[in-house]
Amino acid sequence: MSLNSTLEIDIVKAATSKISSVDFDNLSFGNIFTDHMFICDFKEGAWQKPIIKPYEPFLIDPSAKVFHYGQAIFEGMKAYKDENDAVWLFRPEENFLRFNKSAVRMAMPEVPESVFIDGLKAILELEKEWVRKGLGNTLYIRPFMIAIGSGVIAQPSTQYRFMIILSPARAYYSGEVKVIIAEHYSRAANGGIGAAKAAGNYSAQFYPTKLANEKGYQQIIWTDDATHTKLEEAGTMNVFFRINDTLYTAPTSERILDGVTRKSLIELAGHLGMKVEVRSVLVDEIVAAAKDGSLKEIFGAGTAAVVSPIVAFCHQEHEYQLPKLDDSFALQLKDKLTKIQYKLAEDTFGWTVKI
Ligand SMILES: Cc1ncc(COP(=O)(O)O)c(C=O)c1O
Repeated sequence: MSLNSTLEIDIVKAATSKISSVDFDNLSFGNIFTDHMFICDFKEGAWQKPIIKPYEPFLIDPSAKVFHYGQAIFEGMKAYKDENDAVWLFRPEENFLRFNKSAVRMAMPEVPESVFIDGLKAILELEKEWVRKGLGNTLYIRPFMIAIGSGVIAQPSTQYRFMIILSPARAYYSGEVKVIIAEHYSRAANGGIGAAKAAGNYSAQFYPTKLANEKGYQQIIWTDDATHTKLEEAGTMNVFFRINDTLYTAPTSERILDGVTRKSLIELAGHLGMKVEVRSVLVDEIVAAAKDGSLKEIFGAGTAAVVSPIVAFCHQEHEYQLPKLDDSFALQLKDKLTKIQYKLAEDTFGWTVKI
């Protein structure tokens, strides 16, 4: 599949590129941005002509709704370069659809497909030097939308800015991840915004995550807000559990983000002959499985790390260790998915899209 652009965009190129000053072997995640940014504003009920211009700060009125009411959504995706220098995206349509789902939930205007997808293509074409060859090198893509209309009255803005910024990244490795199961705090509730990629979901996690960090745990496994008995997400990732040789992950709901990695791993696992069950996973059954030795793996799944194995979890002040395995499902799935993304393995699913 490849993308055909029909979108008219004004392009103002940067006079010089900062690419030669970037140390691509020592990148910390999300701190360096490429030479250009894509901007498309919404005002008077319509999307305006987009522009790609040099990456730089911009002015917004201090009373803009994004500052006061957090009307802001985003996406996270990656571009990959294959052996022949072609640049690829992974299931971009999924990110586009999820972006607009988030927009609807946050009373923001939906972004036209041409603006999101063709905008992405246009800026990636301009910045393709920033996508480095080699497994583990990626260009992280951050599409986002903020409410820029002024006035502190608590109602939806009438003006919005959709942007795409790009940040070169190495494969994300978070070290040995230990998690704590949430017993009090929640990231989402029924009827809330948990299924949207809304900025407020992330800031709301910072404080409980800080408390978990102080206890020596890197992330929280979020449970359902009403009973804290169902295991739902791990930090900012979906979560999988392996008991004996079956993988379990919670069904998506109003409280869970419908992750692109999660849905891809479910398909891939089936393809690799692993048994997968999508159903509620209970805290009690995971604790019991840890005690009787049938709990083999827990791992997070998301765009940044692809798969993030968890080495231990804490529940009610008790820490349970996960075994080290030779036949880790997490690592087999990560290897297979990464190879598809970098075009090192055949993409029989039709997930990869050439720029
Ligand atoms: C809360 C949350 N859950 C799950 C995911 C995983 O989604 P994806 O696989 O689409 O990156 C993310 C984002 O990366 C997230 O922010």
